[in-house]
Amino acid sequence: MSAAIRVLRLISSPRGAESESLRLSHLVLDGLAGQHSLQVQDVDLNDLQHVDRDYAMALASPSDADQAEPGSALQRSAELISQLDEADVLLIATPMHNYTVPSTLKAWVDHIVRIRMTFNGTPQGKVGLLRDCPVYVALASGGLISGEQARQPDFLRPYLQAALATVGLRNMHFFCVEGTARGEQALLEARAMAQSQVAAFFSAE
Ligand SMILES: Cc1cc2nc3c(=O)[nH]c(=O)nc-3n(C[C@H](O)[C@H](O)[C@H](O)COP(=O)(O)O)c2cc1C
Repeated sequence: MSAAIRVLRLISSPRGAESESLRLSHLVLDGLAGQHSLQVQDVDLNDLQHVDRDYAMALASPSDADQAEPGSALQRSAELISQLDEADVLLIATPMHNYTVPSTLKAWVDHIVRIRMTFNGTPQGKVGLLRDCPVYVALASGGLISGEQARQPDFLRPYLQAALATVGLRNMHFFCVEGTARGEQALLEARAMAQSQVAAFFSAE
């Protein structure tokens, strides 16, 4: 077995231990653990505040390097960016909320997609500054979001792909438990399908 890898796991569901996306993320950790020893850092995004006025003003100014007061959103942002920068693998456990990411995860994105820190603006567009690392997303949705039977839009996957590509993270893989609101039998089937997809993915790696 190779050396320990650092896994940063983001928890964005408000449902605590009952969370389906958290449950799925455990399976992803099991898959990773079959290949590496893991050092897992959990960050519960339910505790994360929104960015604030000073943060927005600083990002709009030509330089914001020295403005981080203790406890400020700018300092929180710097800490979250360091966590991300130090991770070998990013694992995001997320439900779908109203066709996209929950506001907890959006708040994290607002802290880490930061000009001069994680991307630069260029005439050709935004250029990411982070070292690329694998990103696994454990996604739970009440309805279906894939295939011909899906009856709702999915802004979550394209949004996360675009947001993380902005900072240089392009190696993303989504695992989904879909239809958690469709009854007990459908839930068990969705869990079993996700479990076999995770197992197949990591056995092929
Ligand atoms: C505020 C809110 C909005 C939701 N919006 C959607 C939605 O747009 N599409 C969907 O399929 N499920 C939606 N759901 C259902 C959740 O995605 C589903 O219950 C999921 O399994 C929850 O995962 P979790 O247990 O990890 O929180 C929503 C749930 C909540 C609480």
